[in-house]
Amino acid sequence: MGLVPWYMRVAHLVPPDVAHSLARYALSAPSPGPLIDEGLEVELAGLRLPNPIGLAAGYDKDGYLYPAFSRWGMGFYVVGSITAFRRRPLRRPRLYRPRDGLWMLNAFGLPSEGVISVARRLNGLGERPRVPIFASLAGFSLEEFSILIRAADALPQVSAIELNISCPLFDDPAGMEELAELSSGLTRKPSFIKLSPRHSRVLEEAAGIAEGHGLGITVYNTIPVRSGALGAGRGGMSGLPLYRMMLSAVARIRSVSDRVPLMAVGGIFTGSQALAALEAGADAVQSLTAVAFRGPLAFRAMSEELLAAMRERGYSSVSEARASRVSAVLRAPRGPRSATPPRAAIPSPPRGPA
Ligand SMILES: Cc1cc2nc3c(=O)[nH]c(=O)nc-3n(C[C@H](O)[C@H](O)[C@H](O)COP(=O)(O)O)c2cc1C
Repeated sequence: MGLVPWYMRVAHLVPPDVAHSLARYALSAPSPGPLIDEGLEVELAGLRLPNPIGLAAGYDKDGYLYPAFSRWGMGFYVVGSITAFRRRPLRRPRLYRPRDGLWMLNAFGLPSEGVISVARRLNGLGERPRVPIFASLAGFSLEEFSILIRAADALPQVSAIELNISCPLFDDPAGMEELAELSSGLTRKPSFIKLSPRHSRVLEEAAGIAEGHGLGITVYNTIPVRSGALGAGRGGMSGLPLYRMMLSAVARIRSVSDRVPLMAVGGIFTGSQALAALEAGADAVQSLTAVAFRGPLAFRAMSEELLAAMRERGYSSVSEARASRVSAVLRAPRGPRSATPPRAAIPSPPRGPA
């Protein structure tokens, strides 16, 4: 594996559940803070972000870690997914990490303390959290989404909303349209529909629906898989296997809509990978599995790498990267499925799951 080999070796010295707990302790250690550089600032759906690399949903589901982890250099911080009511986690093991690949399987089952409890915790952070908070909301019906969106809208600590449509009810364009309509009627905060790879057949429709209702899109959630390595026997795959799929989704969405606010997530471990997603047309990126491999310093390191990669390619700002020749090539009207990213931007492919 050519990409970032040293942190993989370190990461594999401890089992994933232990690593997860250790990382939580490590968060209270002195942190490097964010990398401050004008070139990294971005605008996302009207929000000004200090840097375009955010923590993706799932690491801090109930907002407990925000006070410590938000010091570690991410440009924004997704809390959740938050559900309307309390949910228990699925059976262990809930995480699986291979010995030799930059990917993980997880099956937590959207555990949450429920929106009332999480809202109280976020409210305790004061009116102006140091890093913008995005609330990831997971509803299993329109009624549940309605409770969640109203709660997130009322919280001054929440700058933006991400709608996690894990429920099959919202898989087809008709379901998405209903949700988008609901959301745009309930909040004026920037809101994003987070799609999963199972939505890849309706990406263009989803982009049209989002744009029509003033919403944005996040691509992608994890790849649904079956695996005996997980207590639930099935779960989601994150990390490098998502990277090409994510880049292609960004390019396809940009080929039909230049305006829809767009966040890219899936297999971003380095600043160069973040840059490739921005060049393909994403307004911002998110990362999660990188934390499991690179530890809490991941965001600060990726920001430094992003800035270095931007300088190397002659960009003085992220918006210049966004408007680059690479994205122009990707956006060429060749039909959605042929809009593939440049080969040079793609790291060597991972091995498949065990
Ligand atoms: C342990 C774990 C838990 C996750 N939980 C959530 C979640 O609650 N809500 C959500 O929208 N996505 C969740 N995700 C998906 C991530 O937010 C992200 O979309 C996915 O992992 C791809 O990014 P990555 O390759 O950088 O991890 C989770 C991912 C992992 C690995």
